[in-house]
Amino acid sequence: MAMAARFWLLSLTLSVSVVGLVRGNSESDALYTLRKSLSDPDNVLQSWDPTLVNPCTWFHITCNQDNRVTRLDLGNSNLSGHLVPELGKLEHLQYLELYRNNIQGTIPAELGNLKSLVSLDLYNNNISGTIPPSLGKLKSLVFLRLNDNRLSGPIPRDLVGLASLKVVDVSSNDLCGTIPTSGPFEHIPLSNFENNHRLEGPELLGLASYDTNCS
Ligand SMILES: *[C@@H]1O[C@H](CO)[C@@H](O)[C@H](O)[C@H]1NC(C)=O
Ligand SMILES: *[C@@H]1O[C@H](CO)[C@@H](O)[C@H](O)[C@H]1NC(C)=O
Repeated sequence: MAMAARFWLLSLTLSVSVVGLVRGNSESDALYTLRKSLSDPDNVLQSWDPTLVNPCTWFHITCNQDNRVTRLDLGNSNLSGHLVPELGKLEHLQYLELYRNNIQGTIPAELGNLKSLVSLDLYNNNISGTIPPSLGKLKSLVFLRLNDNRLSGPIPRDLVGLASLKVVDVSSNDLCGTIPTSGPFEHIPLSNFENNHRLEGPELLGLASYDTNCS
């Protein structure tokens, strides 16, 4: 190759990578913020390198053809630490799988911005706080599994409007109030609400001894 052509190619390569660095990748940034917030004794997040052009080659991440993140698969990964609000920036995310870890803290309200989300699986962790009413914005949601955590407060009525919702499991938490019975909740078995000592089911209506006080 002629010297001039080689020089031209080199400067082109350099400017492309400089532009890449300056622009950054907001999905990488969001996921890297999650990585920094988690403790990862088994090093399952080792490949999460924020200097790569996008996160699509990272383990446990799946992208679509446009290199946008569609899946985060980190169930059973021995992770602890907290979720981060930045997850709400993954606007093409369909599967958020973080079940069977030891994640603490609360569910960020920003997860309600994940307008493509099909599955929110946070079951078997140590998550506390309330179920954010913003999850009522997840119009594509089919699976909502939050069972076996330490969630408190009511089941937000905002979830009743989610027409695609098929599976809800919030059993074994510390929820209170009453179980919704309309919309998608019509078809959810009562066992998926059990072991919440202050949550009252429709079959218990009238049992005044139940303390469902939810304030
Ligand atoms: C999970 O991490 C802990 C360290 O925090 C370690 O002792 C344990 O062996 C790990 N468990 C598995 C199943 O990898
Ligand atoms: C769950 O989180 C609380 C703090 O919110 C902590 O005190 C407790 O030890 C955690 N449980 C487990 C099993 O790690």
